[in-house]
Amino acid sequence: MARSDEVFALARSALTGDREHVRAVVGMMIANEPERSSLSERLRKLLQAHGGLHPTAGDGIRLDKGLETLVRVVDVGRDLDSVVLSTEARQTIEALAHEYAAVDALAAHNLTPRNRFLLTGAPGSGKTTLAGALARRLQRPLLVIDYSTLITSYLGETGAKLTKLIDGIAGQRCVLLIDELETLLSERSGRSDRTDVGEQSRIVSALLLALDRLDHRVVVVGATNHPEMLDRAVRRRFDIEFELPLASHESAAVLGRILAARHPGVPVHEMIPHNVDGRSFSDIECVVLARVREWVMAGVAARQATG
Ligand SMILES: Nc1ncnc2c1ncn2[C@@H]1O[C@H](COP(=O)(O)OP(=O)(O)OP(=O)(O)O)[C@@H](O)[C@H]1O
Ligand SMILES: [Mg+2]
Repeated sequence: MARSDEVFALARSALTGDREHVRAVVGMMIANEPERSSLSERLRKLLQAHGGLHPTAGDGIRLDKGLETLVRVVDVGRDLDSVVLSTEARQTIEALAHEYAAVDALAAHNLTPRNRFLLTGAPGSGKTTLAGALARRLQRPLLVIDYSTLITSYLGETGAKLTKLIDGIAGQRCVLLIDELETLLSERSGRSDRTDVGEQSRIVSALLLALDRLDHRVVVVGATNHPEMLDRAVRRRFDIEFELPLASHESAAVLGRILAARHPGVPVHEMIPHNVDGRSFSDIECVVLARVREWVMAGVAARQATG
């Protein structure tokens, strides 16, 4: 990167408050300096004094008072290789990761990476798992909205809390998972009185505002089993939408290989149920894990009998 590009990238990330990117640019400047130059030494010390190049997970996230009850920072869990995905879905995610790695090149052309992702699919098809794997791939903390505290029966409060939450995390690098999106939006749907209709339109407005306000630093992942329940205005806000399918014979075999890697020495391929078409991965995994457990316990019993 030329010196002028470094200065520009540094100024932009400082002015937009993107601290993690500031660290990355400083790291790059050190790498581009002749070894042991006085500037590289001074930058190195400065960086170390402020948490080093790679702050620990969650370090980049600041949850102001009250927000920690509305959103949880969760363990990002599995990596992308242990999620069964179509080739197309995998390519889309890799393309997204490349966009995030090329933020500066995009910015030079007045573009930003896509940051709104809608995952649809039946229960147990891997929506929540994929959101975690995406956070891991993008090396960002994963924040999950906690509906138990967000949704309240007080009029106007849910929308207001949602707005507060969005204001609190705007500009911080993270993946925000709005899981079971229909839960949030169905707040009014089961009820018919006019007040509740007003309440839900406030929630929808707050959500639309949220989606519009959050720039690429917050990757928003919406997940739902019921995309048909989403307001069209909400659905249109997402840059990428894809459906996670239920299992087929081939994809169940891929799950089998993932599980075999997780349970070395166990003949997992013999434990995949025969009828997998249309079943969820979660369901198949449950059956396989029950069989793995039986297999292990049978081994224990056999050893006890002979020993
Ligand atoms: N595509 C997948 N690849 C690998 N494992 C999967 C996949 N889908 C589901 N699983 C397994 O099933 C479990 C449950 O899946 P997950 O919670 O991600 O599904 P979901 O689509 O979010 O379901 P729900 O709609 O009920 O929230 C996961 O912890 C994972 O072990
Ligand atoms: Mg889920």
